[in-house]
Formats: sequence, structure tokens, C-alpha cells
Amino acid sequence: MKGPPLHTLSGGGANFSLRIPGGDPGPGSASLGEPSERDFQRLRDLVREKGGIDLALYGESYLRRRLAILLRSKGCASLEEYVKLLSADPREMELFLNSFILRVTEFFRSPTTFEALEQRILPALYSQKREQLSHVVRAWSAGCSSGEEPYSLAIILRESLKREKDGFSVLIFASDIDQKSLVDARKGFFHPSKLKKVNQAWRDTYFRREGEGFVVSEEIRRMVVFRVHDLVDPLPYRNLDLILFRNVLIYLKPDVQRSLLESFFEILNPGGYLVLGRTEGGAGTVPSQYGIADIAERIYQRPLQESE
Ligand SMILES: C[S@@+](CC[C@H](N)C(=O)[O-])C[C@H]1O[C@@H](n2cnc3c(N)ncnc32)[C@H](O)[C@@H]1O
Repeated sequence: MKGPPLHTLSGGGANFSLRIPGGDPGPGSASLGEPSERDFQRLRDLVREKGGIDLALYGESYLRRRLAILLRSKGCASLEEYVKLLSADPREMELFLNSFILRVTEFFRSPTTFEALEQRILPALYSQKREQLSHVVRAWSAGCSSGEEPYSLAIILRESLKREKDGFSVLIFASDIDQKSLVDARKGFFHPSKLKKVNQAWRDTYFRREGEGFVVSEEIRRMVVFRVHDLVDPLPYRNLDLILFRNVLIYLKPDVQRSLLESFFEILNPGGYLVLGRTEGGAGTVPSQYGIADIAERIYQRPLQESE
């Protein structure tokens, strides 16, 4: 699978910034004024109350970028004005959440990560499992957006298992904070633009054309179980062999990143893998208990045998 160059997520586009109290305005930015701590607190309270999201968990520069873009698009001259708009109109809160939680994703996003999984990581995992006399593979796509990532994983699990002499049962959990994305994920219907990196053979095998788009086959859908989950809440799964946690970490604050990576270690089986992917290059220092399975793809492993 060869695809277009890897892309990273960024708020992009804004050429001015909004200063958050105590925050760094960032280089070369024209400030929209200095919001008061009171306005900022009002925004946090409103978003927590109406949108169920704790803004304090997200990286400050990310938040600043998103707010600058939103204020500009709404023609608001200050945070105070924007907060008024948000509290007066539920549709504005919806727009804020849609824009804040970037849902960008596609099938086989960052194809080299999936190649590494299919060609090296999964075969190694199957051998491990055989030695442990276990025939169940449990995976989690954390921050799965509209489902393209867990469905892609289901496809390569199915493909790689064709080459194994033993059968394995596979269960893929997929979660996201965003209910709307999960509604789309469960439908399993995708615009053709989301399938650009799916090769023709897999398109023919795992999708069927329906109207203007494609529907994922029943055998793939049955492998994935979706649920709403906020990553700061207690983690809902354990005994996992694989965690895909891609393009989410970058939005979170360093202390939240670290504590999540530590918690993931606890819920992985010995020998289980954590996949951060290439785009997380600059984010998150991975705790030293993890071994490295593939540094370029940022795939880490809980050691099979842990030293005391
Ligand atoms: C850019 S998408 C990544 C989708 C997929 N992992 C990929 O790499 O293609 C980021 C996802 O993280 C989710 N997200 C952000 N904060 C979250 C949180 N606190 N808990 C759970 N999901 C969260 C967003 O809703 C969004 O769907």
C-alpha cells in the first residue's frame, strides 16, 4: 500500500492568536486582545456544562489556535463576545465542539504504520500468543473518530490471519468522546474520499458500493465494538494485546499524556503493543517501562518479562 505523503494535524490557517491568561502568545502573532481570566473561566465552565468536555486537559497552544480560528470565523472581537454567543445559541456550542475535536481520519491513515503492523507486529504477536496458549486477540482504538481506524485494523487482522496456521478470535474495541462520530462509525458508511488508501482488492472484498459511498462488510463490522469514552475517565478495558492511540495525544497536555501512557502500560498484556504512529513524533515522552518495537512508527511494547 503506497499512499500520499504523511500528513499531520494542525489548526493551521490562523495568522493571529488569542492570548490565554498566563499563556505564551506565540511568535509572530497579532493578538486579539487579552481575555480576562473571568472570561476564560466562563468558557471552561460553559464547555464542561454544555459540551461535557474539560478544556483544562488540552494543550494550551492547541486551544489558543482553535479559539483564534473560531473567533475570526464568527467575527467576534473578544473572547467575552464569543462566550456570549456560545451561551446564547446551542448551535454555536455544537460548532465549537465540532471544530475543537478534530475528527479528521481515513482508512489506512499513515499507511506505513499499518504495513508495520501487518508485516511485523501482528505475526510476532501471534507467535507470542501461541506460546502462551492463548487464541484471543484484544485490541483498542482509543480516539477512533468515525471508525476508519478500527475498521482498517480489522481488515489487516483478517488478512494477516489468513496466513496463520491457527485460528484466533479477534475483538476490537473502539472509543471516542464524540457521540456523533460514533453514530457515523456504527453506520459503517463512508464517502469515497475516505477510502483513497484502500487497495482495489480490499475494496472489493471488504466494502460494497451504496449510492454515493461505500459500506463496510458485515464480517468487518462484527469485529468492532464502539462505545463513548472520555480518555480521562477510568479506562474501560484491560488485558489488551494492542492499543492504537494515534493523532489524539498531540492535543493533550503533557501531564495528561504521561498519565495516559502509564495507564495504557497497565492494561496491556505482557508482550502487548502500543501504537502511537508517526504523526505523534513530537508528542508525549513514553515511559521507560515500555520497550521499543518500531521507533519510526512509534510502536512500543510492554515487555514479556518485566524486571523487578
Ligand atoms: C484526529 S482524530 C484521530 C482518529 C484516529 N485515531 C486516526 O488517527 O485517524 C482525534 C479523535 O480524538 C478524539 N478525542 C479527543 N479528545 C478525546 C478524549 N478526551 N477522549 C476520547 N477521545 C478524544 C476526538 O473526538 C477525535 O475523534
